[in-house]
Amino acid sequence: MNSPIDATTTAAWAELEAHKKSFAPDLRGWFATDPTRVERLSFPLADLHVDLSKNLVTDDILASLLRLAEQVGVAERFRQMLAGVHINTTEDRAVLHTALRRPADASPELVVDGQHVDHDVQEVLDRIAAFADRVRSGDFAGVTGKKVATVVNIGIGGSDLGPVMVYEALKPYADAGIEARFISNIDPTDLAQKTADLDPETTLFIVASKTFTTLETLTNARLARDWLWKGLIAAGAIADDEQSKKDAVAHHFIAVSTALDKVAAFGIDTDNAFGFWDWVGGRYSVDSAIGTSLAIALGPENFSEFLAGFHAVDEHVASTPLERNVPVLMGLLNVWYSNLLGAQSHAVLPYAQLLHRFPAYLQQLTMESNGKSVRWDGSPVTTTTGEVFWGEPGTNGQHAFYQLIHQGTRLIPADFIAFANPAYPLKDGDRDVHGLFLANFLAQTKALAFGKTAEEVEAEGTTGALVAARTFAGNRPTTSIMAAALTPRVLGELIALYEHITFTQGVVWGINSFDQWGVELGKQLALQIAPAIEGDEDAAAAQDASTRALLEYYRQHRD
Ligand code: F6P
Repeated sequence: MNSPIDATTTAAWAELEAHKKSFAPDLRGWFATDPTRVERLSFPLADLHVDLSKNLVTDDILASLLRLAEQVGVAERFRQMLAGVHINTTEDRAVLHTALRRPADASPELVVDGQHVDHDVQEVLDRIAAFADRVRSGDFAGVTGKKVATVVNIGIGGSDLGPVMVYEALKPYADAGIEARFISNIDPTDLAQKTADLDPETTLFIVASKTFTTLETLTNARLARDWLWKGLIAAGAIADDEQSKKDAVAHHFIAVSTALDKVAAFGIDTDNAFGFWDWVGGRYSVDSAIGTSLAIALGPENFSEFLAGFHAVDEHVASTPLERNVPVLMGLLNVWYSNLLGAQSHAVLPYAQLLHRFPAYLQQLTMESNGKSVRWDGSPVTTTTGEVFWGEPGTNGQHAFYQLIHQGTRLIPADFIAFANPAYPLKDGDRDVHGLFLANFLAQTKALAFGKTAEEVEAEGTTGALVAARTFAGNRPTTSIMAAALTPRVLGELIALYEHITFTQGVVWGINSFDQWGVELGKQLALQIAPAIEGDEDAAAAQDASTRALLEYYRQHRD
């Protein structure tokens, strides 16, 4: 495996440091003197329209960023990923989420480590589609023959965040009268509340876990199984014996995993299990069998459209020169802001209520991928890595945290996402409410870019100390991403865009964006501490002083 090129030693990095020294952002001036800025910095990306013009870059800075991408080998690394090279070095694995969305007739065939990847992907997709159709038609029914009304996905992290986000975003496409719910937290409240009003006879659980070892998921799966059995027995739907319980599991539990042996050990029929492969990272898996809840609730055709959207962006990233390659450009802008200009966080602000879980989804995608302190050869990183991603849909955010973005002292690059057409076209009298919503999106990006000078404030009659308080500095960078409507295809495109932005940043920083060792220690310690919670004195005594004191508080206060 080739060593990463240290970005900070490249000629392009020296250029960027020089740009930083003389940097005087002036979006007002740049727009006034350059009538072509918007056109030059707006790009098509499949069905998306991406406007980068309100970012804090000049042509010279952009040219240096592109040279940086060349000098650290971004395009070559993309090529390696798409070809199945083991770029996940610490786990010695290929990284092939892009293979999950290749069309059935993709050519040439992708064969990696002897595996006929296209064939295997298609086989699972066909099985999922056939199963989804059976559930949607009622052919696959509960143990008493009733049609499934609710699918409950039990998973966490990548086995939860993607499916939840996509289901919420595409709810208007849920056309089979099947609701999806998602249980993730080991806090028993999650399962208790999500099952409280469900009928066991019409509930289908999907246990979704890449490894099928995750404590939260397996605990919740066992709780769900008990809930099912108790409910069915109490309703007189099944007898209280082993065979009836086994039949109930066969009709009400399916699984999604790379570990089908463990699925069988849990008691789920592997005929009702859908596999994927170790080259799909959890946070990159919503387009794998992990999306089975989506194929059921939204339908296999919509799931195919969703995958086609991802693929369109994969094609763009693989074949578009860097200077027009949108994910690469956005990744490079993030490097400029975070490494050169000191930004620590990045806001994602969808002007679409349906995307209310998108920022949470992106948090795992970006922060689990790029929150690393060593590079892919184990050497320490040479610059800061990772950005804190956060956000809320507009306009809610406007009434909460936008104040800090507009007038605070921190630089917070923000991505705005908006759609020309609403999911629900409602009118307030004669007024199109979606139009008013979009006016807010346009107003915010305009205010952030161009601000309001003291002279403009004074011209409105404000005087004294209030002038400063009412002045907006402007030069707050934003990217605007628009599409005609939030469709399954467009959502796939949006996710793939952010996957490849994340990848670009990871390559510049020289890190492996596909492992997540940082989550392991907490998992190990939880297993060590659990006996102490349950009363094991030796386990309690072995803890540090603060943990012992907190355990003591718990013991004194529990009922
Ligand atoms: O939090 C660590 C992690 O491994 C994530 O990367 C993953 O998405 C999540 O746990 C769930 O893992 P699994 O799908 O194996 O249950």
